[in-house]
Amino acid sequence: MEVVTTVRALRRYISGARQEGKTIGLVPTMGALHEGHASLVRTSVKENDCTVVSVFVNPTQFNNKNDLRTYPRTLDADCALLESLHADCVFAPSVEEVYPEPDTRVFSYPPTDVVMEGSRRPGHFNGVCQVVSKLFYFVEPDRAYLGEKDYQQIAVVRAMVNDLKLNIEIRPCPIVREASGLAMSSRNTLLTETERKTACNIYKELHSSLRYAKNHSVDETRQRVIDRLNSIEGLEVEYYEIVDGDTLQSISDWADALHVVGCITVYCGSIPVRLIDNIKYK
Ligand code: PAJ
Repeated sequence: MEVVTTVRALRRYISGARQEGKTIGLVPTMGALHEGHASLVRTSVKENDCTVVSVFVNPTQFNNKNDLRTYPRTLDADCALLESLHADCVFAPSVEEVYPEPDTRVFSYPPTDVVMEGSRRPGHFNGVCQVVSKLFYFVEPDRAYLGEKDYQQIAVVRAMVNDLKLNIEIRPCPIVREASGLAMSSRNTLLTETERKTACNIYKELHSSLRYAKNHSVDETRQRVIDRLNSIEGLEVEYYEIVDGDTLQSISDWADALHVVGCITVYCGSIPVRLIDNIKYK
């Protein structure tokens, strides 16, 4: 496995692989890798001749300085895991390497990027598009692997790929959960043992709402998840929205959309950690 830190070395590696006629899969990450990331890498290794994993904590997508400061960074352990998964190349650049100049590009894909995370984290998706577009230009992969844990991120990246007319297939991968049901996240390491147990209730309630939804309205289901989670000490729901899985617009009736997804953000713990999760109703 090759570890490169500059765009120049990355491009050299990529053109070598292309000359050998290899297909390329890209897995963009911010590191602190866990089984969720590993599942994306495994899928890419299966589907491509060559898998490139980027490990870069992208400052432009953090709307909270403290979140950026405390974000876990574990490059050595990440490389060891990626090696064991048979990734071919790790791109782990510095901030200056990716942003030699401040990125002033503006990406705007309403209505996808203005709802849910878009309205609560101003600038977040713009930052995601800034870095992902650069990674796509550097690597020019055949396929890019994104986790459904960040459901809205996939929709925004798809909109960007359409807009820029990039010839890249977006491959969504299912959410990987701990045995307790908690969606794996790099931010879980910021939770205490007790908080982790409390956080399991998020999936428990989402899952139990599937059955409740069978004979209740969208609004009743939404409200029940919010009320039940807010009644647990240490949890505070920022939003729970039940949306059309394709347009991400809120629905009022189960029949309003072909695919229906419930997307949640919850603050957990005394120094609150912001956790996101989602579940498919249909
Ligand atoms: P990061 O949070 O590191 O996640 C990298 C990829 O792993 C994303 O596509 C995310 O959806 C996926 N992922 C994370 N946890 C997962 C889980 N439990 N199950 C399945 N997939 C999971 O998302 C980002 O980084 C950044 O925004 C990035 C796209 C790299 C741009 O900076």
